[in-house]
Amino acid sequence: MNNIQVSIKHSHDFIREEEIYLQQNKIEKIHQSIINKTGKGNDFLGWVELPGNIDEELISSINRTANKLKSNTEILVVVGIGGSYLGSRAVIEALSHNFSLLNPRKNYPMVIYAGQNIGEDYLNDLLEVLDKKEYAIAVISKSGTTTEPAIAFRILKNHMEKKYGKAEAKERIVAITDQSKGALKKLATDEGYQTFVIPDDVGGRYSVLTPVGLLPIAVAGFDIQRLIDGAKSIQLMNSNPGSIKENPVFLYAVTRNELYKKGKLVEILVNYQPNLFYLTEWWKQLYGESEGKEGKGIFPAGVNFTTDLHSMGQYIQDGQRILFETVLSVAEPAKKMEIPFDRENLDGLNFISGKRIDEVNKMAELGTTLAHIDGGVPNIKISIPKVNEFYLGQLIYFFEMACAVSGYLLDVNPFDQPGVEAYKKNMFALLGKPGFEKETEAIRELL
Ligand code: PA5
Repeated sequence: MNNIQVSIKHSHDFIREEEIYLQQNKIEKIHQSIINKTGKGNDFLGWVELPGNIDEELISSINRTANKLKSNTEILVVVGIGGSYLGSRAVIEALSHNFSLLNPRKNYPMVIYAGQNIGEDYLNDLLEVLDKKEYAIAVISKSGTTTEPAIAFRILKNHMEKKYGKAEAKERIVAITDQSKGALKKLATDEGYQTFVIPDDVGGRYSVLTPVGLLPIAVAGFDIQRLIDGAKSIQLMNSNPGSIKENPVFLYAVTRNELYKKGKLVEILVNYQPNLFYLTEWWKQLYGESEGKEGKGIFPAGVNFTTDLHSMGQYIQDGQRILFETVLSVAEPAKKMEIPFDRENLDGLNFISGKRIDEVNKMAELGTTLAHIDGGVPNIKISIPKVNEFYLGQLIYFFEMACAVSGYLLDVNPFDQPGVEAYKKNMFALLGKPGFEKETEAIRELL
């Protein structure tokens, strides 16, 4: 296996293949509208050509900045929320040691995160850690006005200026934001921080292959060029898209939409490798924000098997029949381990002694898939050969393109997120933000 593969053979009890292939004309039109930028939200399609268009000088500049930051820091704090942190976290955690907090990579800073919550204890604990460590900050916000990262950055900037003095703090902060708009842009210009630009036509959740994702990934010591190469290989494949049957992007997008039409309203992304947890979180944001609107959309959920087979497994097998699963299957783990033989065999496990741990994991995967199909849960399988920068790049572009196609199949704009504003309006009204006086009055009456 050289590339991502999609198999829908375990969905055949629920949808006929012809139903999927019947969508060919529609899919070709959608694909054209993405390539020609004529569909809904067409001013946010910059990610489509991004892997092929990334300027070499930008990659060098990101790598130079990463080297500079790594020379005098033990920790990089990435300050951002949603698309401004999930992509880098997904890639870094997928490629890192499972116990990286206890076993950090030699010669590379550890990447940790802030601004993705408003937890007072979280921020206190963070400062406690940073008191004792050398650190740098990558503050990331496309709009430059998002409350959570703005609060975290204000606190961290204060801490850093006290710890290092204003002049050195300035050298330890990199801002990634819009070219000209937003409070973060103004702050970065006034303070003289090094900045990287998020292109206008790339939205937050599609921005992992811009400096938003690339800088933190490079600081963590991973090969951003390979990540881009992986994404580029799927971009190239998609420039000559072919039929639904041949094109994994289309096959996934169409199958999940056909399942949705049959009442399968929830898609569960399943992984069997714990270090893919944040890839699922990234995927949930990508699909949740892109599709969940106008009363439509598949609800994206995630589980980590076999762990969650002992919690969510019961519901998936036996609960409401509104689910389908998409299994992210990794053909080959990076490391090997066999189950040892034991003379006493008190645990009765000698029947699997000598087998790789992964062989057992794969049988758990197959056994679970078959059980869930029996229980009425269709299954799509997405396979990658291994977890490395190249295949993560493939997965990123694959999911982004499939998400755009899916959104257009649903007839929504996959690139906006109007629903996210509702909580912000209430929060600002409750906090008495200037300009929200009317809302404050209305919400106080309501309460
Ligand atoms: O996908 C999106 O656009 C959002 O999820 C944003 O990434 C998130 O709200 C953060 O926005 P910003 O980068 O403007 O701070």
